[in-house]
Amino acid sequence: MDSLLIKGGVPLHGEVEISGAKNAVLPIMAATLLTAETCVIRRVPDLSDVKFMGQILTSLGAEVKFEGDTLTVRAAKIKPFGDYELIRKMRGSVCILGPLLSRLRKATVSLPGGCAIGARPIGLHLKGLKALGAKISIENGYVRTTTPKLAGAEIFLGGRLGPTVLGTANVMMAATLADGVTVIHSAACEPEVVDLANFLNAMGAKISGAGSPTITIIGVDQLHGAEHEVIPDRIEAATFVIAAAATNGEVTLRGARADHLLAVFDKLREAGVKVERNGTSLIARRSGRLKPVDVTTLPYPGFPTDVQAQLMALMILTPGTSIITERIFENRFMHVPELCRLGADIAIEGPSCIVKGGQPLSGAPMMASDLRASAALVIAGLAVKGTTQVSRIYHLDRGYEKLDEKLKKLGARVERVPET
Ligand code: EPZ
Repeated sequence: MDSLLIKGGVPLHGEVEISGAKNAVLPIMAATLLTAETCVIRRVPDLSDVKFMGQILTSLGAEVKFEGDTLTVRAAKIKPFGDYELIRKMRGSVCILGPLLSRLRKATVSLPGGCAIGARPIGLHLKGLKALGAKISIENGYVRTTTPKLAGAEIFLGGRLGPTVLGTANVMMAATLADGVTVIHSAACEPEVVDLANFLNAMGAKISGAGSPTITIIGVDQLHGAEHEVIPDRIEAATFVIAAAATNGEVTLRGARADHLLAVFDKLREAGVKVERNGTSLIARRSGRLKPVDVTTLPYPGFPTDVQAQLMALMILTPGTSIITERIFENRFMHVPELCRLGADIAIEGPSCIVKGGQPLSGAPMMASDLRASAALVIAGLAVKGTTQVSRIYHLDRGYEKLDEKLKKLGARVERVPET
């Protein structure tokens, strides 16, 4: 398992190209199962989760080809079940359920396990598919679904913590080939859901309202192949903006979309971080002294849970008390004990962390635990003086394309070292 060796205290300067969005491309890859024709997806990030999803599609019988950042999929003849070991290992694969059920009228997938950040149940996914006419049984760790034919329905998909992103994706994809009209209430509004809807409509689906809490899908008989360019990764963009501020540098982001980051930029402005548009690029730097903030993670368009850890890495550098509250996942503070190893003063109080920023910090060995937590550890390592080693960075490789190379191009002293 590799680790990253970081010699911190160097301000980041230069330009970085933002890659395609992981959380858009995974459901879009699942959507290619809805047609026997060829789909071409562009701006596909080179991530282990994407390669995994490619292997899952191949195990289902699809022809999958990666050429640079272009992915071609032809799911001409597919089976209603795939490689369980693969499916079990990556939660995002749950979104093959809707397309398989809709195209083949049956599907069996392994129950996606929980992960470091939470139990990650899929009851809302199954509630939505049942509403469309699926018969569902759970046995031996697998979800088995069948249906004579899916029929449109009116579905409330909100859970106790609000909407479900992949649940919305699953039900929306299943509804594209159902008989009649489906209305999803309390749908997730994330840009990645909109990107999926745009791809499905390019395939001939009839979806309206994506990006709002109410999505309407008029079922069609079949979908055809399509080409699509994936939206930029807003979480990667937010990570680089925060890294620029944390190191007191100035970074130009190419290809990012400011309209997907309104809540993040609003909170960062309050924290003393300025993000200016320069044509199609964004320039990120401090606007003066950093200031402590209070933030609560919320479903889109609120402050994203996927940027919570990275913001905390900035707040440990910021003199004053910040309060960071996590409302989406029940265990998303695993970066806290690791950041405390640098000398940070963070107290966990239920769903909130009280960060007493501005303590003297110094580099130390830290261990990554999940994708966004590891990004927070890297940001902190870049900012503090001294050497930091972040181990188990396979977590990073799941969701950040060549992060160490991109950071090196910005002047960071970072080396990827194989763990002995
Ligand atoms: C997506 O996960 C993202 N992953 C996550 O990004 C992101 O954090 C999350 O949405 C929230 O924005 C992908 O898109 C691949 P949810 P998803 O269903 O869809 C509960 C990253 O770092 N819930 O919106 O699985 C759930 O437990 C990853 O890139 C139910 O209770 O998340 C959570 O508390 C991490 N029942 C809340 O809803 C269900 O049936 C939101 O989960 C489904 C979800």
